[in-house]
Amino acid sequence: MNEILKLEQITKVFETEELETHALSGISLTIHQGEYVSISGPSGCGKSTLLSIMGLLDFATEGQYFIEGQDATSLTLNQAATVRNEKIGFIFQSFNLIDELSVFDNVALPLRYHSQKFNGKEIEKRVVTRLEQVGLSHRISHKPNQLSGGQQQRVAIARALIANPSILLVDEPTGNLDSKAGDQVMDLLEELNNQGTTICMVTHDPRYADMAKIKIQLLDGKVLHAPATKPLFN
Ligand SMILES: Nc1ncnc2c1ncn2[C@@H]1O[C@H](COP(=O)(O)OP(=O)(O)OP(=O)(O)O)[C@@H](O)[C@H]1O
Ligand SMILES: [Mg+2]
Repeated sequence: MNEILKLEQITKVFETEELETHALSGISLTIHQGEYVSISGPSGCGKSTLLSIMGLLDFATEGQYFIEGQDATSLTLNQAATVRNEKIGFIFQSFNLIDELSVFDNVALPLRYHSQKFNGKEIEKRVVTRLEQVGLSHRISHKPNQLSGGQQQRVAIARALIANPSILLVDEPTGNLDSKAGDQVMDLLEELNNQGTTICMVTHDPRYADMAKIKIQLLDGKVLHAPATKPLFN
């Protein structure tokens, strides 16, 4: 199987003048194409820090990191931004949609910043296809604040997928949703994975963590349990 992400002995220390926080200590893990990985563990154990490093939003203090075989450990900020835009799709608890833009323009955004130039027709075709996939093509002209929380998260998922990323990195996708909307978002992620999308998701909810085929537990910045080949708890 193709390796999408590979972390080797990743350590992250946050330093301020009076305080040193060891957020991650010696994390090694590999995510292959088509996998659905969940990362869970108590508050403060390093889940979001790990996801930020995977998504090149932050850099490790020590260790090596590869994205599709390319060394991503010492990219410049500009290089990291390009790799992030083209290979990573993010989904956060707080949707992070732009209120002033329509659903269409929110979803189209990553294509407008892509190094590959897309013309208007291509952009429209892709946006419509992705909105159909998340069941929201009838809301294409709405603004985010005219949608329910669950709908906003599904728009965010369409945006995350629009540039055909190598992996979706998902941090507490249901944190701002009621249980029904949360279940719908989780069902959609499962369906996307069944269609081939590689997913790494952080969640507090053991029920949702169980939906992933590979379950990783973090404690105090270390991997507590990472099945190498197949999940132990099935
Ligand atoms: N920018 C930062 N500066 C200093 N310390 C930080 C920073 N970001 C995170 N930390 C610390 O790193 C540790 C891990 O934080 P992280 O946000 O990764 O936890 P988490 O597992 O995502 O928690 P939660 O479940 O509450 O979201 C915590 O002790 C946190 O205080
Ligand atoms: Mg977090």
